[in-house]
Amino acid sequence: MGKPLRSSVRLFFALWPGEGECAALAAWQPQLRDLCGGRAMRADTLHATLVFLGDVAVHRLEALQLAAQEVNAAAFGLRFDTARYWGHNHIVFAAPHDVPPQLAQLVHDLEQRLMKHRFRFDRRPYKPHVSLLRHAKWDDAPLPVMPAVHWQMREFVLVQSLRDERGARYEVLARFPLG
Ligand code: 2AM
Repeated sequence: MGKPLRSSVRLFFALWPGEGECAALAAWQPQLRDLCGGRAMRADTLHATLVFLGDVAVHRLEALQLAAQEVNAAAFGLRFDTARYWGHNHIVFAAPHDVPPQLAQLVHDLEQRLMKHRFRFDRRPYKPHVSLLRHAKWDDAPLPVMPAVHWQMREFVLVQSLRDERGARYEVLARFPLG
């Protein structure tokens, strides 16, 4: 008997930049890991979540893509210039000091379209971040100043989070251009 087909998939929308842009942020990891320990995320998995949906029924995937296609947002640049630590989930992450208005607009517009199409999602206040280290340990002291990394965003993506014997794995299911 074959494997049962999944009835739902674990999904999120994210900014997923090119290899070079990810490699530039991954270059922060060794120094931060020396300080904070933990496990470095692989460079090819670095991303900034826009909206986390969690489990979505497979039969709703088409409607989800249609909702995302309705988003009308502009391309923008994002400058990561700060390394920070969250004690509640033991993550060291990269953050932009300034959140471009186009990014705030993109998240707002995406959330509106998702609500209109009756999708449920995690509605925490949006804090753009790229997780760099998991299971890290640090305190309230500032982390060292890192060389700024610039991402040029021309699209956002729908990603499936999968689990295999090596842990979480991400698969880009669809891409949505920014105008
Ligand atoms: P994180 O990097 O801060 O853990 C896939 O899990 C992506 O969705 C990660 O970037 C993760 O953020 C983000 N995410 C946001 N809310 C989540 C939640 N409630 N559970 C799991 N991942 C979440």
